[in-house]
Amino acid sequence: KTKVYYFEDKNINEEAIDEAATVIRQGGTVIFPTETVYGLGANALDEKSVSRIFEAKGRPSDNPLIVHISNYDMLLYCIGEPLSEKAQKLMAFFWPGPLTIIFKKSKAIPKEVTAGLDTVAIRMPDDEIALGLIEKSGVPIAAPSANISGKPSPTAPEHVIADMDGKVDVILCSRGTRVGVESTVIDISEDTPVVLRPGGVTLEELRKVLGDVETDKGLEPGSIPKSPGMKYTHYAPKAPMAIIRGDEAKVRGKILELASKDRDRGLKVGILTVDEDKDSYPGYSVISIGSRRDSAQAAHNLFNALREFDKLEVDTIYAEAISEEYLGLAVMNRMKKAAGFNIIEV
Ligand code: TXA
Ligand code: MG
Repeated sequence: KTKVYYFEDKNINEEAIDEAATVIRQGGTVIFPTETVYGLGANALDEKSVSRIFEAKGRPSDNPLIVHISNYDMLLYCIGEPLSEKAQKLMAFFWPGPLTIIFKKSKAIPKEVTAGLDTVAIRMPDDEIALGLIEKSGVPIAAPSANISGKPSPTAPEHVIADMDGKVDVILCSRGTRVGVESTVIDISEDTPVVLRPGGVTLEELRKVLGDVETDKGLEPGSIPKSPGMKYTHYAPKAPMAIIRGDEAKVRGKILELASKDRDRGLKVGILTVDEDKDSYPGYSVISIGSRRDSAQAAHNLFNALREFDKLEVDTIYAEAISEEYLGLAVMNRMKKAAGFNIIEV
């Protein structure tokens, strides 16, 4: 039922993209790569098409979708306000790229896309296949991450196939995604811009362009996030997960203590760590997300690592916290959600 196309690097199959574009125009669903994670798209201007996205993902419909565009005419068609100076600056610096900007929506965007909000989230992805698909469809494409709701977002073709084969009309697969965490969502409607979801564009980069930028206080546990999607349990591996944070040596010691207790009880223990520490846990199921000093690598590897723990069928996971600088902010945001905010300070 699902047509799957694999593209080799630099060998884009234009006919497959044409076919996928026709499917979008006719109201169907297409999974496509972006630089962040794979997206599950449908015509953003048509509520019936959009409802198929929620069905395929098993996603609650009170969680609004990001609208993907390939040119500025599409942007103007989707928004119901003049372009502010801040928006223009952001677009000039970061589009195409992993930044989603919240605008007042135009009448062209049905309420099914925005979950009833009068704002719409828009981004221009930095991926040739994605841009080609949108351009050829001739319509903006609403697309959440192409995972089953609650699972880690897909960053490789095999993740997409595992979650979505049989549930959508077309899957366009290329390679693994470059960034590996979703786009940053920013609200620029107030004087001080607010990051609603940390992602592929860092707070540090945004501050260079805009000056003062805050993060949504609702991202902390126990408060209400402005970005509706942030309230759901997300990215969760099957096994319960705890994050250990603090002095590096103490973190290793604490993880070894907890892990050996679990092993004595007959449990299979997974440990999420960094290259510098990966030999510190002999005998456990250890996965490294890369060097402690390279947050981009951690972002690139995190979702695949979470899915690997499912494959290893571990019973419990201990994860070393990393620094929240640069892409570490997005990585730790996803890790905290995967762990249900279970953080042990040492
Ligand atoms: O990188 C990405 O953003 C990927 C790729 C496919 O583009 N897409 C993605 O979509 O992550 P999704 O649906 O998984 O996440 C969309 C996020 C959610 O947290 C949602 O609540 C928020 O954007 N959002 C969407 N519309 C919004 C709005 N009008 N106001 C505030 N937040 C909004
Ligand atoms: Mg998602």
